[in-house]
Amino acid sequence: MSIDFSDSGGFETEEPLVTTSLTRDDENEGSLRPQSLTEYIGQKKAKENLSIFIQAAKMRGEPLDHVLLHGPPGLGKTTLSGIIANEMGVHIRITSGPAIEKPGDLAALLTNLAENDILFVDEIHRLNRSVEEILYPAMEDFAIDIIIGKGPSANSIRLDLPKFTLIGATTRAGQLSAPLRDRFGVTLRLELYTPEELALIVRRSAGILEVPIEEDGSMEIARRSRGTPRIANRMLRRVRDFAQVIAGGVITRDVADKALSALEVDFLGLDAIDRRMLSSIIEHYSGGPVGLETLAATINEEAVTLEDVYEPYLMQMGFLTRTPRGRCVTRRAYEHLGLKVPSGLNGGLDQLSL
Ligand code: ADE
Repeated sequence: MSIDFSDSGGFETEEPLVTTSLTRDDENEGSLRPQSLTEYIGQKKAKENLSIFIQAAKMRGEPLDHVLLHGPPGLGKTTLSGIIANEMGVHIRITSGPAIEKPGDLAALLTNLAENDILFVDEIHRLNRSVEEILYPAMEDFAIDIIIGKGPSANSIRLDLPKFTLIGATTRAGQLSAPLRDRFGVTLRLELYTPEELALIVRRSAGILEVPIEEDGSMEIARRSRGTPRIANRMLRRVRDFAQVIAGGVITRDVADKALSALEVDFLGLDAIDRRMLSSIIEHYSGGPVGLETLAATINEEAVTLEDVYEPYLMQMGFLTRTPRGRCVTRRAYEHLGLKVPSGLNGGLDQLSL
């Protein structure tokens, strides 16, 4: 695949194609982001492996191999990419799959990188096919093919690129094409955090924000953050508001509980949409199985949102199972919602063989 500049319409896009800062979703987290691997809490396996790969690349004086980060939103894919850049001592350019509309957009990004720089592409599963095909030779040979002119007089030239590292982030690794997936030398899956890890993150963030917090207070926020640092940090800011107004500024367990209950986050971290998902499967589909699209239509949410944002935590907590015939709730979901468990329902397992 080569790039035809004759009809590319230039590189201009309405949205900035690339930023050296962070995307909107991440903006609020800015000051709380760890800058080095040692500051980064959790994801032990990913961190250990990355540390080796980074040291080895530095010893060889080479760029890090291309890295694919996948896992649910809010677990620190962007943060980790910034850390990789810091640890490698290189610049990072941040963009996203949907922002790169045309092959020419990608060519502009790649040709502006310096040797060993990192190009971070968030939501890489949303790259369009013609753009993706430019990435293959760029990743493999650090080169792109460009067509200049039109018709019989058109000429193809190969343009060498600086050696660079592509970091792709996605919530849906399964949607990546095999040729793209195969070109990443390192694939890291980020997992939901444990409450203990989240409590450490909350305490670290409270320190940066200079909010006094009791141990029980941080644990309460952690337990209700559905395994996700972005949620924990967002809750911390809201709980801080309550603490300031009703409790003299200190975050105790009691203040955290009051604040999170007021925000309709229950004691296990489920919010109104989680509960609506579970109760809708129970009320409308007798506990399941029900297809994802049908469920999404029933509760008026996007299927991808349910799948990427809500299901990972509901499954981790043992409230929901995915079966070949659709989603089912478990006995635990009935119990959590205070509903009578139907006879014959055994932890959801019997629904697999319905
Ligand atoms: N803030 C957000 N994610 C973090 C992490 N994994 N470690 C430390 N601070 C964080």
